[in-house]
Amino acid sequence: MKLGVFDSGLGGLTVVRAIRRLYPHVDIVYLGDTARVPYGVRSPQVIVQYAIECAHFLSTQKIDAVVIACNTVSALAIPEVKQQMTVPVYGVLEPGARAASKYDRVGVLATRATVRSQAYTRAIHALNPKSEVVSVASPLLVPLVEEGWAKSPNGKLTSIVSQTLSHYLEPLAHAKIQAMILGCTHYPLLKELIEAEFEKLGWTIPLIDSGEELAKEIPISNLENPDHTGKLEVYTTDESVTFQSMAEAFLSESVPHVARAKL
Ligand code: DGL
Repeated sequence: MKLGVFDSGLGGLTVVRAIRRLYPHVDIVYLGDTARVPYGVRSPQVIVQYAIECAHFLSTQKIDAVVIACNTVSALAIPEVKQQMTVPVYGVLEPGARAASKYDRVGVLATRATVRSQAYTRAIHALNPKSEVVSVASPLLVPLVEEGWAKSPNGKLTSIVSQTLSHYLEPLAHAKIQAMILGCTHYPLLKELIEAEFEKLGWTIPLIDSGEELAKEIPISNLENPDHTGKLEVYTTDESVTFQSMAEAFLSESVPHVARAKL
């Protein structure tokens, strides 16, 4: 038995990391659609089409469940992916929204497509009708993380990331949010910088990692099998020069052999 995890690119490896921390023995096959990343700037129709193609590829890999690591896909395409699959489908959005719904004023930091879909707002309201949700689209953060600027030893680069964060977080601090969802696969890598930026704004709040929340909710006990060794297979749809450094930053471990997937 194994999990099939997919994302628009390599960012979803942060979700794989969260799953492996809790369940090191679960086998995972990961697909990163690196040929078509980013999804966060695309239209809902295109995101649905890409998501279905990714899920179909995973369904050829003898998986027992599909995990949608991408927040943008989770916001826009879960019903459509579920319709096409015969195995259970889990996305990051519901678990993130569930963790946030105990607060009455919630911030969401995400891609443009996720914010435009209002999916987090709807999911939080469904659980806590009196909650107020303030969402901010932060399109510059994905490229900054992918360039490695968030963890750069060069202070000048890190300060550009801090200034960018300050621009996005200021309205959320002013809205006096009580918790914030990291609504994109890349943002867990910015967690410390986000905390530091909120601190500068005089605002200390819990950050909700949707990937970690999802990992806690997957009914893994049904998927545990003594024969499993925590094997990780990685597929991508295109080559990328920065693959190894990016994948290791997202996964926090070295990445095994990578194979090419044809969708
Ligand atoms: N994986 C996407 C998400 O979590 C971020 C990158 C993209 O825009 O494709 O929303």
